[in-house]
Amino acid sequence: MLCLTEPTDPAWIEGALADLDAVLVDHGHCEMKAASNALALAARHPDDVVLVRALTDLAREEIDHFQRVLDFAEKRGLSLGTPAVDAYAAELRRAAHDELRAVPPLVQRLLVGALIEARSCERFKILVTAMAERNVEPELVAFYDELFECEARHFRTYFDLAVRAAGGDEPVVRRALGALSRREGAIVRALAGGDERATVHG
Ligand SMILES: [Fe+2]
Ligand SMILES: [Fe+2]
Repeated sequence: MLCLTEPTDPAWIEGALADLDAVLVDHGHCEMKAASNALALAARHPDDVVLVRALTDLAREEIDHFQRVLDFAEKRGLSLGTPAVDAYAAELRRAAHDELRAVPPLVQRLLVGALIEARSCERFKILVTAMAERNVEPELVAFYDELFECEARHFRTYFDLAVRAAGGDEPVVRRALGALSRREGAIVRALAGGDERATVHG
C-alpha cells in the first residue's frame, strides 16, 4: 500500500481485534505525536510559509483525530496513561539519518512523516476490513474508515513537501523513500517478533 515494501504480518490483526482497547490507547498517543511532530517541524522552518501552512493544517487535523479517539476512550472508561517508548519512530528516524545522507535533513524528516502516515493508513484499512467482516463496533469501523483516507492524504502531503524541499527533484525523493521504506519494512518485521502487537505501528 502506498510506498510500503513490507505488508503487516497477518497475525497482527488477531492481536488487534483481541484488544481493541489497547489499539485505541496506542492510537490516541499516535495522533498526539503526529500533531506535535508536525508542529515541531513547522517551528523549525518558520519562514517557509508553504511548509508552515501545510504542517499546521495537518497538525490541526491530527488534534481533531486525537480528541475523537479520546471520546471513544472515555466512553469505554479507558485512560491513555503514559505512552510506551516508541521504538518504531525512534528506529525509523535513526534509519533515515543513516540511509538518506544524500538528501537534506528536512527531506529526511518529511519522509519519516510520510512513512508513519503510510503505515497508519495500511493498519486502519486492515482494521476496517476485519472489523466490518466480523460485524463488530460499527461506530469504530466508520471512524477508522475515515481515518484511513486522511492518513493516505497525509502521506501525500509529506511526500509533496519532501519533493518541494528537494528542489522539485522527484526521482531523488522517490529513491530516498524507497530506501527508507525498505528499512521501515525491516523495523516492522523485527518489532512484530515482540509481545506488544496491538499497536498502530511496529
Ligand atoms: Fe491522524
Ligand atoms: Fe495523519
